[in-house]
Amino acid sequence: MFKTQITPTYWLIAHRGASAFAPENTLPSMRLAKQMGAQWVEFDVVLSKDGELFIFHDEKLDRTSNGKGLIAKASAAELKQLDAGRWYATEYQHTPIPTLSIMLAYLAEIKMGMNLEIKPADDRIELLVDGIFSAIEKHWSNELPIPLISSFSIEALRYARVRNPSARLGLLLHEWRDDWQKLADELNCYSVHLNKQIVTKERVNAIHNTDRKVLCYTVNDIVQAKHLFEIGMDGIFSDYPNLLEKWHGI
Ligand code: G3P
Ligand code: MG
Repeated sequence: MFKTQITPTYWLIAHRGASAFAPENTLPSMRLAKQMGAQWVEFDVVLSKDGELFIFHDEKLDRTSNGKGLIAKASAAELKQLDAGRWYATEYQHTPIPTLSIMLAYLAEIKMGMNLEIKPADDRIELLVDGIFSAIEKHWSNELPIPLISSFSIEALRYARVRNPSARLGLLLHEWRDDWQKLADELNCYSVHLNKQIVTKERVNAIHNTDRKVLCYTVNDIVQAKHLFEIGMDGIFSDYPNLLEKWHGI
């Protein structure tokens, strides 16, 4: 008798792409995620001063580009001149901050599942959400995995639901809140995405009892990932697209 070792097929979403190995939220980071076997990526969507949509995490440009100050105060033309790869490593020099449009065209080409996180920096929520849906309508087809759209901003999710009654929405929770179900019901959320620090088995069960998926961010430790899947987690966000390759080694 011998046992076949089956690699688990748990849902791993490459957080900002393969961000442990390449500059986060860039095309090279998505390309590497694909090469490392990821089937899904997560990235953050923000607005420039003049209303163009870009992929970027922080409110300020300083950490992950050679720009300075608030991204929401920079024009699209200024942002397109910036380098979002050099801070990470010289081999990534001249990597641009991607526009949403370029990102979606690329992910559609490589057939990658995507979680778009809406990150409003100011009150231009409708402009941001409208831009996201317009880009999806333009670049995404029905043969590709249905996009998952998430946010910490209830206002953004509320408008997303108005804008698209059937979109898959994910409620992001950094802190636990007892009114999560009321919110998830109101927004007709497909999933709830929990900070790993607030996960308990009871909470995972409670969310499952409302027929929703539960996801957890950001999990970079295989022992923790195993534990989360054991208590019923449906998926994890990880900076390491290859995290689950170590599954049989522990
Ligand atoms: O969407 C999961 C995770 O990306 C949320 O936190 O700050 O990494 O965007 P953050
Ligand atoms: Mg994010």
